[in-house]
Parts: sequence; C-alpha cells; structure tokens
Amino acid sequence: MAKTRANEREFAGQVIFWIKKRLAEGGLPFENATNDSSLYGLETTRFPDVLLTLDFGGLEPFCGWEFKTPKTDARDGKLLKDAVKKAQTLDAKYFVTWNMQTAIIWRTPGKTRVKVNEDDKVQEIGPDSRISSVEDVRDRAKAGLLEEMCRRLVMDLGRLYEDERLNLPVADTTVFVGMVSVASVKLADSLLRDINKARGKKTFDRRLNAWAKKQGVSKYDQEYYETLAQQIAYKIVGKILFYLTLRRQNLQLPRLDLRGKNYGTAMKRMRGLFEMALDYQAIFEHDITDEIELSEESARVIIELTDNLAHWTFELMQLDVIGNVFEKLVPEEARHSLGQYFTPDNLVDMIVAFCVKSENDFVMDPTCGTGTFLIGSYRRLRGLGARRRAHHKLLEQVWGFDIAGFPAELATINLCGQNLSDYRNFPRVLTMDFFDVQPGAKFEFPPPKKTAKTGERITVEIPKLDALMGNFPFIRQELIEKAEKGYKKKLEKVLHEDWYVNGGYRELFRNGNGNNSNKIRLSGQADIYAYMFFHAAVHLNDDGRMGFITSNSWLDVAYGYELQKFFLSKFKLVGIFESRCEPWFEQSAVNTVFTILERCDDEKERAANYVRFVKVKKPLAELFPQDVLTDAQGRWIALEQFVDKVEELGVHWDACGEKDFKKFAAINEEYVKQPEIISYEDDEIRVRMVRQEDLRAQVFDAAQTVKWGQYLRGPDIYFEILEKCADKLVPLSEVANIRRGITTGINEFFYLPREQARHWGIEKEFLKPVVTSTREIPGVFVEAKDLPYRVFSCHKDREELRGTRALKYIKTREKRSTKNGTPWNKVPSVKGRKNWYSVPKNVVADFLVLRFRDRRHYTPINKAKAEIGDVVFVGEFREDAYKNFGCSFLNSTLIALFAEVFGRANLGDGLLTTYGPEIGALLVPKDLQGTRSEKKMTRVCEEFTKLGRRRVLPFDKEVRRRDRESFEKEVFESLGLGEKEYKEVCHAVNELIEERHLLPKLRKARRVSVSVTEYKKLITL
Ligand SMILES: C[S@@+](CC[C@H](N)C(=O)[O-])C[C@H]1O[C@@H](n2cnc3c(N)ncnc32)[C@H](O)[C@@H]1O
Repeated sequence: MAKTRANEREFAGQVIFWIKKRLAEGGLPFENATNDSSLYGLETTRFPDVLLTLDFGGLEPFCGWEFKTPKTDARDGKLLKDAVKKAQTLDAKYFVTWNMQTAIIWRTPGKTRVKVNEDDKVQEIGPDSRISSVEDVRDRAKAGLLEEMCRRLVMDLGRLYEDERLNLPVADTTVFVGMVSVASVKLADSLLRDINKARGKKTFDRRLNAWAKKQGVSKYDQEYYETLAQQIAYKIVGKILFYLTLRRQNLQLPRLDLRGKNYGTAMKRMRGLFEMALDYQAIFEHDITDEIELSEESARVIIELTDNLAHWTFELMQLDVIGNVFEKLVPEEARHSLGQYFTPDNLVDMIVAFCVKSENDFVMDPTCGTGTFLIGSYRRLRGLGARRRAHHKLLEQVWGFDIAGFPAELATINLCGQNLSDYRNFPRVLTMDFFDVQPGAKFEFPPPKKTAKTGERITVEIPKLDALMGNFPFIRQELIEKAEKGYKKKLEKVLHEDWYVNGGYRELFRNGNGNNSNKIRLSGQADIYAYMFFHAAVHLNDDGRMGFITSNSWLDVAYGYELQKFFLSKFKLVGIFESRCEPWFEQSAVNTVFTILERCDDEKERAANYVRFVKVKKPLAELFPQDVLTDAQGRWIALEQFVDKVEELGVHWDACGEKDFKKFAAINEEYVKQPEIISYEDDEIRVRMVRQEDLRAQVFDAAQTVKWGQYLRGPDIYFEILEKCADKLVPLSEVANIRRGITTGINEFFYLPREQARHWGIEKEFLKPVVTSTREIPGVFVEAKDLPYRVFSCHKDREELRGTRALKYIKTREKRSTKNGTPWNKVPSVKGRKNWYSVPKNVVADFLVLRFRDRRHYTPINKAKAEIGDVVFVGEFREDAYKNFGCSFLNSTLIALFAEVFGRANLGDGLLTTYGPEIGALLVPKDLQGTRSEKKMTRVCEEFTKLGRRRVLPFDKEVRRRDRESFEKEVFESLGLGEKEYKEVCHAVNELIEERHLLPKLRKARRVSVSVTEYKKLITL
C-alpha cells in the first residue's frame, strides 16, 4: 500500500494528544483540548483546529489553535484573519498560530477589530529551523522537538490564565545568581541576630546544636553561629527556589507574592505557602529553623528577594543553574576547603555515556555536590528506555552523598525537579561523609508524602552499583589533616576494612599477602581522591564501571603507583582522558583528567584489554553541540557515537587499516623500556593504546609510578626518537648526582648583597658568590659578575674566628629574631648544626636544573663555581670526561622535549614543574666512546660555548637563531638524528609550551567574559 503523506490534520491530531498528555500531569488550569465543532453547533471550517478549554466538557474556551505547515507563514494574513474570527466567535481570550517552525500566542482583539497587530502578540517561540516539512511529525526526534514546543505553549497559556501576563525576561544565570547571593549574604547577617535572640529560650540552643551536627557544622568551628546563620539562610533560600521550581509545573500553587503585608503576616504567608507544598514534606518539613522568629530585617530581605524573582521567568534557564547558585552563593574559600567545584554538563554527560549502559543500572555519585552527575544519570536512564519507568522508580536507581548539607539539599531539589507531579518517592541523596558509607548499609529516607502506612521514615539498603561517577574533591593532602586531625587514620581504617579484612586486595597493605599488618602502602602524600577511588570500588558490581574526574597529578607522582597497580589488577582500564584545548574547570587552577574503569576479575580479559590514553582536541561544546533541553536525544546519540568510537579503537584497531594509525615498537633496552604503542589521531582526538598486560608488566618492573602522562602528552616525535636512540640513552640519574641547592635556614642572615658584604668588611674566605634566583642567570653560563649576592659560608668555630670581621657579623646579627620572636640562632632549621652560622658544605655543582619553566628551556652551567640556593636543583656528573659534553647536551632541545613530556603541568598556571624524579628521568646520551664519538662530542661542546655569549631566549625565538641551529645540528648528529627530527622536535616543544599556557589564558578569558555579560545584563535592567 502506498504510504500517505503527513498533513496538517495529522499534526493537529498529534498536538491534541500532546496537550492532553501534559494536562494529565496536572498543575494547569485547563481540563481539555478538543476539535469537536459540534459542541458549539458550528461547521468545522468555523471552528479552530484545536480548542483549549478550562472545563472537561469543552464549553469554557480559553484559546483556539490554528495549524499550518512550514510552507505558510505563522503571520499569514488570511490565517490570522481566520483565527481572529474563530476566537471572537467562541469568546476565547487567546489564540495560537503555529506553522510547526514558529508558534505565536495572540491576545484576541475586541469584536470591533478584525485584524491583530504586533501589539497583540503575547509570545513567539521559534523559528526552529530543524523542522522543515510536515513530514517531520513522523520523525521521532523531530516530533520530540514539536512536543517540547507544545508543552511550552501550554505552560505559557497557563501562566497567562494565572497572571494575565507572560513576557517576563528570561533570567540569565548570572543575574539570577547575583540576586540570590546578595540576598543570602544579607539574610545570614540579620539571621545571626535573630538566632542570638532565640537562644534565650530554654531548649532552643540544645536543639539548634543537634540540627547543626546533622548539617555537618562542628561546634568547634571558629565562627559557629555565623556558619549556622549562613546555613539557615541557604535553607530558606533553598525553599524559596524549590517553591518557584514547583510552581513551574503546578500553577495551582499560589504565587509567592509577599508584598504589601506587614512583616509578620508576610512571613506567616510564606510559611503557609510552604505548607501547601508539603507534598514534598521532606524539603518543606518543619525543623528548628522554622522556629526562629524572623525579625523585620530578615523578613524585608526575603520579601525583596521573592519580589525580585517574580520579575523573571525560570522556564528557559540553563540547567546548570542550581550548581551555579551554589558556586556563587557559598564564599569561595568555604567551597574550596571542601574541594567543591562543579562539573559542566558536557563533561558530566560524556562520563555518564561511558558508564551508564542499561536502563536498569543503579548509579551513584559518592561526592555529588549539587547533583550534576545524578541529573545526568537520571536523564541517561530515561533516554535508555527507562522512560516507561515512573519518576519515583527512577529515583530509586540514583544515589548521591555529600559531606556538606547545602549542596546535598540542592541536589535533592534538582532531582525532585525532574518530575514534580510525581512525588511518590524521595531522592536517594544523603548528607554524609562517603567514607562512612559501607556496602549494604541501610539508610532512612523520609517518604515524600507522609501516610499512615509509611510513617515517618522508610528504610532502604544501599545496593551494589553498576556505575559510580563523579568529580572527587580537589583537596590536597596537606589540608586533609589540617581540617580534621586524625582523618587520614580514619581513611586508612576504612580502606583496611574494605580491602584487607574483607579480602579482595590485600596487596594494598604491607605484608599484604599473609601477615596481618594493616599499614597501608598508599604514600602519606596521597591526595584525598586516591583514597576515594579505593572506597568507591567496594561499592561496585562485578562488571560495573567507574568514571571519575581528578587532578592529573596521580599520573606522574609517587602515590600514583598504588593506583596504577590497583587499576591494572582489578579493572579493565578503559581509558584516561585529558583536554589540552580548553579548561574543563574555570574556577579551579588544577588540571584535570577523567578515568574510566570497568571492574573485571578475569585475568585474561584484563590482559587483552587496550588501555586508551585520550587527548581530547576539540572543546566539548563543539563535539556535542546539541542542546540539552531541545535535542536531548540527538545529544545522547552524539555522545554514544563518541564513546563507541573510542572503545572500538581498542578492539578493532588492526582492522581499521593504516589510515590515522601509527605503531611504535616495544623497546627493551637496559635503560629505556616502552611497551608497544598504537597511536590513532583525527581532528577530534589523539589516542595512544597500550595493551593492559604490557602496561602492568611495565609498572611492576619499575616498582614505582610509570609516568603515564607521557602517553597523553608525548608527541609522536618523542616516541620516534626513543625508538631510534633507545640504545644510546640513559637517565640523567644514572650518570649524575642530583640534589636540591643549599637551604641556608635564614636567607636574611646568609645572603648578603655585595655592598652589604663590603660594608661589614667580612673576610673574603667566608664569602662566596651565590645564585639566589634564576633571574640572576640570563645565559647558559652562571657568571660571577651577574650575581648580586654573596653567601656567608664559614665552617670555623668561634675560637678560630677571634678578631675577625666575620665573628663580629655573627655576634651582631645573632641578637636578631624572626617575625615570631625566635632568636636567629634558635631557629629550628639552623639550631641543630654544630655552629648555627655554618651553611652545609657542598660539592661544587656542575649544572642547575630549573624547578619551574615558563617559555625558556635551559640548564645553566656553573662556570662561576658558585654556591647555588634551593630555588633550583643542582647536579654534578660522576665521570669527569663526560662533564663538558653532558653539560652541553643538557641545553639541547631534546632535553626541552623530555622535560615537557616528563614534567608536571598540573598547577594550572601554565608553568611546567620539574622536581627530583622528573629531572633524574631526563634522557642523556651514554658516554660516547671511540675516537669518532669523541670528535662529535668535542664539536657539540665547541658549538655550545658560542651560545654562552648571549641571553637565552623564549623557546620559539631561541630555535630560530643561527648559533642555536649549529649547536643542535651537532647534538642531533651525535645521536644519529638529522634536521628533519630537529624541526619536528622544535615544532612539538613549541606546541607543548603553547598548550600549557592556553588553559590558564582561556580560564581567565572566560571569567572576564562572564563578568562582562553580568555587567551588561545589569545595566539593561
Ligand atoms: C568537586 S565537587 C563535585 C561535585 C559534583 N560531583 C559535580 O561534579 O558537580 C566535590 C564534592 O565533594 C564533597 N565532599 C568532600 N569531601 C567529601 C566526603 N568525604 N564525602 C562526601 N562528599 C565529600 C564536597 O562537598 C563537594 O561538593
């Protein structure tokens, strides 16, 4: 049978269906939508395509709808004239013209007018260019867009019925957040006074303390009552926001209009309205905070806020607004102490797409903040087919914990808000320290609606999870103990219970294979997220997945070793992802990665897995441009395609043919070892794939962290050079001693500007030139004439010093004290010395290695035989014969390349950090032997000397200099490399330098652009 074409009638039929579906969800003043003209005894041609009515019988018209296909303009003269006439006949206050692309709501003019003009327009939605033909009504994705449009029209009409007006400006997140945060600060201020007044009542203080404890506010906190006032302010603001969200769907709730009353009745009204919303009793539930009598001042702030909020519409506000409210509301220091940064939607969805695979999955974010991952997961579950499952059932599948009360509350609001008409369940979100959450533990939740059957609480056991996702707090290890003494011990105990007592991974503990030692192997330097990975994993189902965002530091630092072993032994490591083209977090200066893991006990499967190190080359908004709200389905499709592409690379790379793939052979030399690496690159991603068994062998052989950062950041030329020269290279630590420069203990005493040294007349034998800052070394050689300081270096006893100017200097100055009153000779860093005034004796260093690199790459040579301060690392070669060549080589672009690949770029300020382990790993040529080699080495040294006559320039300028090119030519030749490799190295290093500077630059630019938008918006208010 020939397929019939869709037409306007089919579209009209769909619209009636969508309107009725929306009406069934409740919260609107309308009861029916009909196309039955016989109800009014009219011919079909004189009746609107659809009539929206206030009663079920269809006899109280409110709005007529006229449909056209995209071929006809929504403002077509004949269409409008017809629509006006029909609306007037029926006495419908409004009518809609909709040509599928554009929908317009019009106010019906009085009967004396037959035409409408632009003044009669109340609302216009569209045009949506994705809709192009009437056939689109049969396309699932496009029909979804049309349905969304229809729902908006119905909501707008509802609001017109209630409020007689619509076009409130759409609240821009920044403006909205601005209003809310100003109000919260003011409210916290006046609430503090209200609380103090209420504390006069007998039992109030005790109950307030109990409440505070539940919110995670410790009585021992310094500003206890200030913090409480803040929490209560947030709670009130939270309720107001929730009420407004609730009213978006349920217009039968009265407007939150508190104006015009006196303060007492206004507050009573507010609480009364909250009572009406008590279907969500868990959020509006009474607690101690409702007992505080609000002063006139507090009430004024609340009234002002609700009044301001009434001038905006929230319908179209970005989804991340709740997270944003929190980010701006809570002072930055307070958020940062808990590591609270919130993840942008795109990143959340990408991780969710990797981890949530089935509509039946149970998921958890152990540090959920305002619930970005919970919402992402909820939507993903619905998209996966759980759409059929009711909201209250879906809520059972999504679990979240956060140690802080307010974000957890916002997460709850956020989840409830996904379907406010279904309040038969309560989100599984709890304010708790995740380390207190044990598998199988039972928790109590308030039933959303109290019934005789449910009572006050329902008890639910936490299930094993199919997916754990989130963004672990960025809390540096030094701060963990500072915040709570003994906290690390607690974490160790939890992990011991998880993996030792219950078995499963005893290797994490010393003598893990038998003896009952409970000493954890995780280094004391580990940041909190390292512990979280281990604890999260005990909650995971057999082949469940985890996806977590963390700082990228574990890839390269010592404590990464335990994580690497754990991941490779208990999981299939699906991939580690990093972006070098945009900062994923604008507020935080930490550079981040996310890691996807799949629990797997099958050793063979693990061994065969390809671990993917993925550099994301495009901003996420370009990879997934589809709108979260209007094109949810298209978006999930794009995300799934991305996930499939990455995952299939590992499985089928050999079937993909040569295109876009490269292979770097395994290397197994004495000093340089690398597994086989398959590299894939297109304009979206670069992926380095390593078989998990090879990676595992590498980590276990090394018995320390293998720098995985190299697979993410290392350019192709780096791996090519290793392939070609592995037999000729050796780590610097094998041929040189590396250490920190001298630590004087009291720079003020030991470092003397030259003039001051002269002034004291200190004997020459006690003064040595010293490098105190890298600014003092403009070129590749340390020259005494450039050094403005002398170090006081005296190893004689006082007896021997009698009569010297040096002794006078010591005696005069030792009377001085530090800022906190400690006399200089009692300062802990010097008092243990035989003579406090003697700096440690040192071998004269051959070279200095920078700790921080910006755009200049060089390794200054200590020609002046100066002392070197601890602002840098220093080293000396063990073999004299190697010295000159070694020092020269350390200044080559090859060392710049190795430093860029091994160094840490995790501070987020664009600087590259190289500490002891990174410096020791720099690769230098083995002692080249034989006369031919000696000649080559001599030529390298000769060319190097010529560089010493000038300043070292930023890398991109430096490599364009003639003298540099001549030097590099000799260096590259000494290793059997040529000009092609040199050019590629220059290009790669330049790119790496640019990449590490790009993120801070973008962070800054984005912050500026946000404040500019905010400003512009405010001045147009
Ligand atoms: C980086 S934020 C991430 C929030 C959210 N997952 C997101 O990505 O938007 C980290 C969250 O961890 C919470 N947190 C810190 N320590 C915690 C702990 N021990 N247990 C549970 N949550 C914790 C903080 O309050 C903060 O909200």
